[in-house]
Amino acid sequence: MNSGAQQHYFSSEEGDLANIGSAVRDVNWNAFGHDFLAKSDRGVFSYDHLDRGTAVFFTLVPLPPDHGNFLDLGCGWGPMSLCMAKLAPASKVWAVDVNPRARDLVLRNINIAQLKNIHVETPDNVPSDIQFDLIWSNPPIRIGKDALHELLLRWLPRLSPTGEAWLVVQKNLGSDSLAQWIVENGFDVKRLGSKKGFRVLCVTHRIDITTEPSR
Ligand SMILES: C[S@@+](CC[C@H](N)C(=O)[O-])C[C@H]1O[C@@H](n2cnc3c(N)ncnc32)[C@H](O)[C@@H]1O
Repeated sequence: MNSGAQQHYFSSEEGDLANIGSAVRDVNWNAFGHDFLAKSDRGVFSYDHLDRGTAVFFTLVPLPPDHGNFLDLGCGWGPMSLCMAKLAPASKVWAVDVNPRARDLVLRNINIAQLKNIHVETPDNVPSDIQFDLIWSNPPIRIGKDALHELLLRWLPRLSPTGEAWLVVQKNLGSDSLAQWIVENGFDVKRLGSKKGFRVLCVTHRIDITTEPSR
């Protein structure tokens, strides 16, 4: 059913991936003045290059804080995790994806980059008591609106009280309606800007300014 170029969105089974085969590629990019090298493979998102949306994201997003628990939601082969971990070596980065080949590639890429602060997990294996000071995500829009909403309602409430989630979404795949939906679901959203057809959003918990200060 889920054949073709977008099968990676649904490939949470080794059997699916075996049918796709393997063709490992090197991907090089520069972000925040650092050169990165990673391995990618068939069956994962944007397997032979850095995705254009992720590239735009790196040019618009602010530097991460020095430390804290960070989440790369839908990490793919790991460009956002590698970047966060490099920029904030004292942080703990959680690289999460349903696709087992993506997770294996992140483990491989951690070794190449010699980074010690990335934990690669399935969504169900992230300890439930962790709150995230930072979420970076190029979310899987093509899983469909209902599944995407479910995903965001699972992870956005896990932002720490002052945490920020930075999302990159293609404008013609509904970035503005997604921003509106996030607001309707109780969060604040800032539209940071857009470039090359991609919008970067910053999501935070809503601060209730109507609450009377206690005396
Ligand atoms: C648009 S790709 C982004 C990949 C990577 N962050 C990048 O920038 O290249 C979205 C990723 O979300 C993953 N994904 C899909 N459903 C997911 C879910 N329910 N939980 C976690 N990850 C999921 C897909 O496997 C895919 O790797």
